[in-house]
Amino acid sequence: MVCLGNICRSPLAEGIMKQQVKEAGLDWEVDSAGTGSWHIGKAPDHRSTREAKTRGVDISKQICRQFKVQDFDDFDLILVMDKNNLADVLSLARNQQDREKVKLLLNDQEVPDPYFNDNHFAPVFDLIEGGCKDVIRKYKS
Ligand code: 4NP
Repeated sequence: MVCLGNICRSPLAEGIMKQQVKEAGLDWEVDSAGTGSWHIGKAPDHRSTREAKTRGVDISKQICRQFKVQDFDDFDLILVMDKNNLADVLSLARNQQDREKVKLLLNDQEVPDPYFNDNHFAPVFDLIEGGCKDVIRKYKS
């Protein structure tokens, strides 16, 4: 799960997906990262942590890290939140195999950056939750 800062959207995506994966009885490894480096080592934004807690998801122990080329080898699927993330991650791809792993979480729709609007965290949670459900449905078998 990849966004720009790895403090707002992708930590939610990691937490939500981990929970859904567990509920579905799958053994997928889920992680998140940011394309940017500003927040490396920090906890998620408190507004994401609070929204997640309200919905029964604990993301408070996550630590921000930056997306790295090694992630193309370590993961089968790299789900990004918006088209800028898509371009940034694709710019690091080494070959067609890497490129094919990168997809928008919501297919043709973006998960908008909620950073500058406190009211956007709840709808962003809903969008990510729906996207994760679709991904599990699509890939579980
Ligand atoms: P995120 O949100 O990409 O969903 O983690 C952002 C968080 C911080 C910044 C940008 C986006 N920032 O510019 O610091």
